[in-house]
Amino acid sequence: MSTPEHIDAVDLGRRRNDHARRRESGLELPSLPANPMRRESDGWLERWMATVEDLARLKASHPMLDAVIDEQAGRWIRIGDRWLADFASCNYLGLDLDQEVIDAVPEYLARWGTHPSWSRLLGSPVLYEEIEDTTRRLLGSEDVLLLPTITHIHMSVIPVLVGGGVLFLDDRAHKTIFDGASVARGHGATIQRFRHNDVEHVEQLVKASTITPRVIAIDGVNSMTGNAPDMRELARIAREHDAVLYVDDAHGFGVIGERSPEELCDWGMRGNGVVRHQGETYENVILVSGFSKAYSSLLSFLALPTRLKDVLKVAAPPYLYSGPSPVASLATTIAGLRVNEARGDLYRYQVHGMTRRVLERLHQLDIYTPNESGYPLIEIPLAHRDDIDVVGRYLFDRGVYVTMAAYPLVPRDEVGFRIQITAANTTDQIDRLCEVLGEMNDRFRLQPEQDERLLFRARGKEM
Ligand SMILES: Cc1ncc(COP(=O)(O)O)c(C=O)c1O
Repeated sequence: MSTPEHIDAVDLGRRRNDHARRRESGLELPSLPANPMRRESDGWLERWMATVEDLARLKASHPMLDAVIDEQAGRWIRIGDRWLADFASCNYLGLDLDQEVIDAVPEYLARWGTHPSWSRLLGSPVLYEEIEDTTRRLLGSEDVLLLPTITHIHMSVIPVLVGGGVLFLDDRAHKTIFDGASVARGHGATIQRFRHNDVEHVEQLVKASTITPRVIAIDGVNSMTGNAPDMRELARIAREHDAVLYVDDAHGFGVIGERSPEELCDWGMRGNGVVRHQGETYENVILVSGFSKAYSSLLSFLALPTRLKDVLKVAAPPYLYSGPSPVASLATTIAGLRVNEARGDLYRYQVHGMTRRVLERLHQLDIYTPNESGYPLIEIPLAHRDDIDVVGRYLFDRGVYVTMAAYPLVPRDEVGFRIQITAANTTDQIDRLCEVLGEMNDRFRLQPEQDERLLFRARGKEM
């Protein structure tokens, strides 16, 4: 959920200055006690301490950051002696708890062991072929390439695609895309940022560019706002200007899909992602997503032409060098894809209904969220970022576990929290969440719907 300006572990100089500024402005939280582990010879380690201090402070003031979960029962979790309803999980289809998926694993372990450690180029169990083929058919793409994580893909594939050309980068793309862009820059690429979801801006930049290759990198369903970009316009720009549109749909795959007269809700059917949902094709479009959210499995993919797949087998380091996904994850992906075909639309329909209830409740309470899509990620920014500690503590005490969006994990004006809803959440949990949102509205300053929506839009235009 982090945004590119924040938590850049390498950019320590800026972080230290930022620390000093906060101290000067009086915003600094109380110092942490001296570290008893510190030694004279640790000079080299000191360079990293600012980062560690931030995390230690966040951890001390936010019971939902870096928390140790002692136990889980359905979508309830226990931390110490407190049980909380979990709205921080991204297992949108609830397949992590699906008995059919769980029962599928032992048979695969018996056949393949826990973890044959070949990289894919050195030895690729036939399970990969099976998953690539099923995913290709689900997406309707020419081909699919599986790699362990989306982070691996961005870091290794973006530099290959861009080469010495230019990468047009959405300002609010996920941090991992920015990391891939940094690697690409290190290999000689030019990076040009465009305003979030601003189609005119990106077209202007692409038209003005004389360099090739050209790649436009964006998020599909955005991990903070929960909204999706205009795929049709962006794909058109890519096609008209000999560019490739590179889309990270970590939060859309498994959730939204192709539209159909038979669909149960306006999220469409089959969960085959943002490209199909908006009626687009894969011409000049590369879709990247993963199974680690909706499918609860450590595995990710690119939907791409076969000829590019062949290139990446040699040119993308993870295919050659990285340890593979665990067999259990391959097994849960295979079983998950089967469950998706059988009853995924029903699960999506349930999540859709629960999400709508929460959004309606926010609307009723006049609480602002940037979520305009109705998709199951709901960010609630606070009116006053300094309230984050008490808000987090209140939610925790009332048994509601969410994703805390604290500074410096997000920019200061987006400090708040994010709710995710999954098929394994229950209506009782949604009741509790709605009740607690009402209580919070009485106690804390959340952003009001109307004014802040205008402010948010205005801010988007200024960026
Ligand atoms: C939009 C987006 N891209 C990439 C990632 C990282 O995915 P992975 O864990 O597969 O590297 C995340 C994880 O939160 C994400 O939200």
